[in-house]
This record gives sequence, C-alpha cells and structure tokens, in this order.
Amino acid sequence: MKRTENKVIVVAGATGGIGEQLCDDLARQGAKLALCGTNPEKVSDLCARLRDNREADVYGACVDVTEEGQVTEFLKEAENRYGTPDVLINLAGLSIPGKIEKTEESVYDILMDVNVKGTFLMAKHFAEHAQAGAQIINLGSMAARRVNGGAPLYCMAKTAVNILSQGLSLQLAEKKIRVTTLNPGGVDTPFWGDRPVKRDKLMLPQDVVDTILFVLDTNPRVAIHSIDFESMEML
Ligand SMILES: NC(=O)c1ccc[n+]([C@@H]2O[C@H](COP(=O)([O-])OP(=O)(O)OC[C@H]3O[C@@H](n4cnc5c(N)ncnc54)[C@H](OP(=O)(O)O)[C@@H]3O)[C@@H](O)[C@H]2O)c1
Repeated sequence: MKRTENKVIVVAGATGGIGEQLCDDLARQGAKLALCGTNPEKVSDLCARLRDNREADVYGACVDVTEEGQVTEFLKEAENRYGTPDVLINLAGLSIPGKIEKTEESVYDILMDVNVKGTFLMAKHFAEHAQAGAQIINLGSMAARRVNGGAPLYCMAKTAVNILSQGLSLQLAEKKIRVTTLNPGGVDTPFWGDRPVKRDKLMLPQDVVDTILFVLDTNPRVAIHSIDFESMEML
C-alpha cells in the first residue's frame, strides 16, 4: 500500500504539464485531491477527467496563489471537505525570459509573486493547521543551481524558493512536518510556450512525478531536503 492512499493532498498549479500527470497518479493511488490553477476551464476539465477515469475524490478551485484571501478560502474548503490536509505540493510557477535592462517592473513582480510569494502563502496557511507527519514539496528548478543568462529573474526566484524551503524545514521540524525542494532541469510541458527549446532532449512530466511520488513514499523518519535532477541529454 502506498503512503498516499486516503491522504488529503493539496496541489497548487495542478493544471500544468507536471500537475495534470501528478494528479492522475495520485488519484490512481487513492489520494483525496484538492487542486487549483487560475484558469476555470482547465480546473473543471481536469476534475472531470480525474472523476471519469479514476473515480477520484477531488475538489477543484480557481485560485490565484498570490492572493492570500483566495489561498485561505481554498485551504479552508479543502479541510471542510476532507479534513486537515496531509500534503502540500506547490507547482504553481512561471518563467518569463529576457534581458534585465529590457525587463518591465511588472514582469519582475509577477515572477517573484507567483514563484515565491505563492509558495510562501500556500506553505504558511497549510502549516498553520498541518499535523505531525505532514509534508510540503516545493518546486524549485535546476535554474536555481546553475544560473542561465536567458532568464536570470526566474533563476533568482527559484533560488528564493530553495531558501524559503530550507527555512520552513527548520521551523517545521519541531512539528514533525517535512519540507522538500525538487530542482528539475527542463521538462517538456506548456511551461516553455513557443521558446526554441529542443523538446526531445527534455525530461517528461512523468519523470518529475516519479520523483514526487518517491518523496511521498519515504519513511516519515527521513527528511529529504532537496533533489536536483535533469535529463541525461542535458549533461
Ligand atoms: N517545465 C519545466 O521545464 C520546469 C523545470 C523546472 C521547474 N519547473 C517548475 O515546475 C512547476 C510546474 O511547471 P510545469 O512545467 O507544469 O508548468 P506549466 O505547464 O506552465 O504549469 C504551470 C501551472 O502553474 C499554474 N499557475 C500559474 N500562475 C498561477 C497563479 N498565480 N496561481 C495559481 N496557479 C498558477 C498554472 O495554472 P493556470 O494555467 O490555470 O494559471 C499551471 O497549473 C513550476 O513551478 C515550474 O517553475 C518546471
């Protein structure tokens, strides 16, 4: 039996390439899901698919993770339906490449808000109620480990996610709540938009999902701080 069976799992940014695959696998393992994204159609389509294909117990909501009121409402409703959530997986994120001297202030704000503030707000309100044994998984990126000139602000934001996770991990240890950051290299998802990347060299969403499932299946006595991984084709 997997440790995720009957667990209440919150997935933020569930409607993206990694999130959809993750929710499908978690539903198959028998988890109860509370999921969100900002696009109402994508949220309702994903919930319908999970119910139809996996008979999943799923609550979906349209939530902007940068808005504290929306985050608290979402987590309150998840708790009302399923009880205190056991796991939070923060996938909501985006990258906007560009040269710093040409970058608008609004681009800086959205990059920091979605990647960093969103992670902070979700973790803050999850941790308020979380019980011993709970887990938080935050998505960083190899961009935090190896800065690239194409998207330096994204590298900065994901570095902040790593540091935030480390701090959270130290603060939540006394409550026996574990925090892990995953730092994947490139993954073939809509994240890349029309940027000229060699998609056949990237990892697949399933590769990240397998790593998340591994972390979730680890014995609660073990804290996994972070995992860096990427496509062999990128070495
Ligand atoms: N793909 C890669 O190469 C790669 C590599 C390393 C790390 N990552 C990280 O992995 C995570 C998932 O990436 P992905 O590839 O699945 O990206 P994706 O396909 O672009 O999905 C991004 C997800 O984030 C959600 N999102 C964006 N802004 C949001 C907001 N303000 N509030 C709530 N949700 C929001 C999107 O929902 P809506 O569309 O409904 O807004 C979508 O569900 C991200 O944190 C990304 O930075 C990705």
